[in-house]
Amino acid sequence: MKILIHQTKALATDCAASLIAARLNRQPDTVLGLATGGTMEMVYANLIARHRAGEVSFAQATSFNLDEYVGLPETHPCSYWHYMREKLFDHVDIDPGRAFLPHGDAPDAEAEAERYEAAIARAGDIGLQLLGLGLNGHIGFNEPTSSLSSLTRIKTLTRSTREANARYFDDPQDVPRLAITMGIGTILRAQEVVLLAYGAEKADVVARMIEGPVAAACPASALQMHRKVTVVLDEAAAGALE
Ligand code: F6R
Repeated sequence: MKILIHQTKALATDCAASLIAARLNRQPDTVLGLATGGTMEMVYANLIARHRAGEVSFAQATSFNLDEYVGLPETHPCSYWHYMREKLFDHVDIDPGRAFLPHGDAPDAEAEAERYEAAIARAGDIGLQLLGLGLNGHIGFNEPTSSLSSLTRIKTLTRSTREANARYFDDPQDVPRLAITMGIGTILRAQEVVLLAYGAEKADVVARMIEGPVAAACPASALQMHRKVTVVLDEAAAGALE
C-alpha cells in the first residue's frame, strides 16, 4: 500500500482527483469504480473544476458505482443514482449510457446484484476503483464479517452505518436496512484502488486497515492483499498510524 498523507483535506482531495485525472488522460476509456458519501463530494467538485478547465474528459470512460440502497428508485433524493447525477454526472461529459449503478428498486434485488456483477465482469472489471472508508471499516457496503471474496450481493447495513448515513434522510427511520454492494472480491479485482479517508474520527479505523490483521472484522484490511492501492489521508486521519 502506498500511503500519502497531506496536511489538509483540500490537499488530499486535490491529490486524489489528480490521480483519477491522470489515469483518464493516460487511458480515456478507463472503467471507473465510483463511490458516494461525504468524502467523495470534494473529489467530484475538484474533478468538475478540472473538466471545466479542459484538463480531463470522461467522454470515453465507463463507470460502475459501488452500491445503492435497496428499495430506493433512481429519482429518490437519497438514492445514490440521484447523488451521482447531482454531484458528478450532470456536470461532466460522461456518457449517461455508460454510467452505471445498481437499481435499488429492481423487483428482484438478488437478481439485480448478479446482473450488476456480470456487467462489471463483461466490461473487463474495474480499472481504477475509488473508495471511501466507513467508521466500522466497511468499503462499499461490505460491513464487518463480509466474506473477503464476496461478489456483488445484498447486505444488511449495520446500526453504525445507518446512523452515519441518517444525516441524508429527513427521518433516521427512513434509512434503508439493505443495500446492493459490490463485493470485496469484486473490488480486489480492480487494477488499481484509490482510498480516501479524512478526519480524526477515521484515525482508528485507518490504522486497523493499514496496520491491523487482514480480517473480515475490518473489511478494508483486505486491501492489504491488493498489489496497487493508494491511500490518501489528511493528517487527522493518519493520527493513529505507528
Ligand atoms: C458509499 C460507500 C461507503 C462510503 C463510506 C464513507 O458509496 O461505498 O463505503 O465511502 O461510508 O462515507 P463518508 O465519506 O460519508 O464518510
